[in-house]
Order: sequence, then C-alpha cells, then structure tokens
Amino acid sequence: MSLKVVILAAGKGSRMKSAMPKVLHRIADKPMVEHVVDAAAALGAQSTVLVVGHGADLVRSAMQDRVEYVVQKEQLGTGHAVEQALPKLDATDTVLVAYGDVPLTRPETLQKLISDVTDSNLALLTVLLDDPNGYGRIVRDETGNVVGIVEQKDASDEQLNIREINTGILAARASVLSELLGRIDNNNAQQEYYLPDIFKLAVQQGMTVSTHHPEFEWETVGVNSRAQLAELERVHQRNQAEDLMAAGITLRDPDRIDIRGELVVGTDSVIDINCVFEGKVTLGENVTVGPNCHISNSTVASGTVIKPNTVIEDSVVGENCTLGPFARLRPGAALRKSAHIGNFVEIKKATIGRGSKVNHLSYVGDSTVGENVNIGAGTITCNYDGANKHQTVIEDGVFIGSCSQLIAPVKVEKNAVVGAGSTITRTVAENQLAFTRAPLKTVDNWPRPVKKPKSE
Ligand code: UD1
Ligand code: CA
Repeated sequence: MSLKVVILAAGKGSRMKSAMPKVLHRIADKPMVEHVVDAAAALGAQSTVLVVGHGADLVRSAMQDRVEYVVQKEQLGTGHAVEQALPKLDATDTVLVAYGDVPLTRPETLQKLISDVTDSNLALLTVLLDDPNGYGRIVRDETGNVVGIVEQKDASDEQLNIREINTGILAARASVLSELLGRIDNNNAQQEYYLPDIFKLAVQQGMTVSTHHPEFEWETVGVNSRAQLAELERVHQRNQAEDLMAAGITLRDPDRIDIRGELVVGTDSVIDINCVFEGKVTLGENVTVGPNCHISNSTVASGTVIKPNTVIEDSVVGENCTLGPFARLRPGAALRKSAHIGNFVEIKKATIGRGSKVNHLSYVGDSTVGENVNIGAGTITCNYDGANKHQTVIEDGVFIGSCSQLIAPVKVEKNAVVGAGSTITRTVAENQLAFTRAPLKTVDNWPRPVKKPKSE
C-alpha cells in the first residue's frame, strides 16, 4: 500500500489576469504548485500526479520530472479531473487529492487524512467559516455523520446556513475512488462532474467519512486573485519569521523580512528590517544584518556584521568580517576571517585574505588578495582588456595607495607599497615601493574665471 498524491492544476485562473497558468504564480519565489509537490514529497508519496490543462506545457517545464502528468483537455469538473489520474494509480494505493492553488497546507495536516483511509472510510478536510459563501457545505445527519456535500449553487436556503465547508482536500483508497467516480454525473447547477459527490455515494453504500480540521485556517486558503496571492505571501513570510524567532534569532520586525528560499541562521543573530534572502543562505551565530540587505545563495560565518544596504550574491564570508554600508559582493567573492569591505566597494571572483581591508569606493575582481593587505580608497583592479579577463595577485602585507589602478595580469608581492594614484602594469617585487606620478606643476596668481552677469 503506497501513497500517491493527485494535484489538480488544470484550471485557468481567469481572475489572475495573467498569461501564466495560475499554479505557476509564486509564493516566496516558488510556484504555488511546487509548494504542494514539496508537501507531497514530505509525506513520502511514491508518486505525484499533476492534472494539467490550461498552460500544460508551462507547468511541465516548471515541474520537470518531479511529477507525473495527465492532461485534462476540457475542464468538466473536479470529479472529471481526478478521473484523469486513475490510470496512474494502483487499486491498493492511498490517494490524497490536493490543489495546485492551495499552497500552504502543512504535511502534518495532510498526514492525518492519509492515516484515516481504509477500504471503507474516506477522509476529508473541512473547516468552519464565519462566511461560508461560495464553498461546498458539509451535510451531516442528526448523529453528526457526514452524509454528503452540497455546492453553493445547488444548496437549499437551509443548507446555505451551514458553516462547515469542504476544503476540497481528501484522501481515499484508489479502488474506492475509481468505483465512486465511475458513478457521479453532472446533473447539477454547473453541469460539472463534482468530486464532492463521491461522499454521498460512499455513505449510501455503507462507507464512512471521517473529517479533520486544519490547525490554521490559512492552510486551506486558495488563491484566485493577485490580492489573495499577496495575502498568502504575507502569511507564509510571517510563519517563516516565527520559526526563526523560535530558533533564537532576533528579528527587528517579523513583518518586514522576506525569505525566498532556505535561510538557516545561528542563534543570537539579529536581522534588521527589509532584508531579502534568496536561494540557500546560511548565517552563523551572532551575525548582524543591517536594514535593506539582499543576500542570495551565500554563507556568512559567525560574528560578522553586515551594515545597511549591502548586497551579497553567491559568496562566502568568514568570521568576524565587516561589510558595508553599501557593499556589493558579486558571485565568487570569498572573504576570510576579519576582512573589512566598506562602502561602495564591489568584489567579484576574488578572495580577500584574513584581516585585509578594502574600505572605500573600490573594485576588486578576478583577484587574490593576501592577509593584512590595505587597499586604499578608489582602487581598481583593471581585469578586463575588452576581450578577456585577467588575474591580479596582491600578496600578504601589501599597501595599495588610494586611487591606484592595477592593470591585470599583474602581481604585487609581499609587503610592497604602491604609491597613491599609480597605474601598475608589471610585477612589483617584495618590499618595493612602486609609484607612477605625473610631475606636479604650479602657476602663481592664477586668474580664476569670473561669472558672466545674468541678462535680465
Ligand atoms: C471546489 C469544491 C467545493 C469546495 C471548494 C474549495 C467541487 C465541485 N467543489 O469548488 O466543494 O468548497 O472547491 O475551494 O469540487 N479543476 C480542474 N479541472 C476541472 C475543474 C477544476 O483541474 O475540471 C481544478 C481547478 O483548477 C482548481 C480546483 O480544481 O484548482 C477547484 O476547482 P474550482 O472550480 O475552483 O472549484 P470550486 O468551485 O472552488
Ligand atoms: Ca468552480
């Protein structure tokens, strides 16, 4: 007996007003349907079947071979949609039906349904709403047993008062699902084959229906519009923020952080407002991230201080470094322990050695910088000749004076000094001073230009 998950994702989602199928719209920069596929994976599903229709090719190229696909050519209803997946199921499978546009159901909640399935019991996720408008209502008999589900458009006035609604999420044995789906019809207000009709049929033939409620209402919220997408994004971000705080991280404002990927943070780190984390980011303990930082696919070791407005991408930062404000680490930057990268400094494909400083207005690219190097303000490694990139090597203990250009390929050996304003075109040997400097000229009593009077 294995678990298979069927995800309905054939609908168009007209209210999104989008050329893209609804289920590909993103929460935390991940397509909604992928959130559901991830939940299926967390449940240990043997396979996941996506029922696709509108924008099928786009959904396929987004989800690749993580799932199997069946195409529902015409959207004749949710029952018809699940029917398309039957060929991918074995009779003894437990089947969970989920929705590509209901992205935040927790695996724990889904597990409860799955555990309840037997050859004679179906499990259903329901929720009590103050405003049940638009949903299918759960109809129970006088002893409280579920006897069916009635859609809003087919409900009597009395049934419209029922506040317990169908979330659509259910679990059943594949053989049971197959048999019941074979018997539903479309004699209803919408002339659709309704999946919820299986419950009435099941009860009529002596089966039972067990119901569960999710712990949180947002677990069953579906997205129909961009406004609802934005609301669920906030819910998801808030949840992630709560998890971080529970793990011992201080967030200056849990409503102003965006995690679009996987963020792992050590205890006692502090994250200020409006920071965005993308892809896989790891921060050590006691890391401080100032406001408005953007960090993607990078690792930052313990004790490092990142000042406001710093951008870090595909980089590795060692312990006790200082970055920013307004620093930029581009892909391939590696800072060793206690390095300092100051304002308006760009580092790309370069290693900055232990204790070295690049504090102001510099570009260091395609370079290896040793330990305890000081690179003065306005230094540029000229790594590009218009066709190819070249390497700059700056060895331990070097001092580069302000506003120098190092024309790569070039090397400055140990403890050498480059005078301010120099253009270095060949190797500077150990302990040498190198400088290029145009002679200083002076003109006495220089007649300064005078402003013309303004014509009225
Ligand atoms: C459905 C339920 C309703 C429940 C509600 C919860 C039915 C008949 N009604 O109503 O009881 O309260 O969900 O949100 O099931 N889909 C397909 N193929 C189709 C039809 C739908 O893939 O032929 C997909 C849609 O893309 C969507 C999902 O199934 O993701 C639900 O369909 P939708 O038409 O939105 O159902 P509701 O009317 O909301
Ligand atoms: Ca509908």
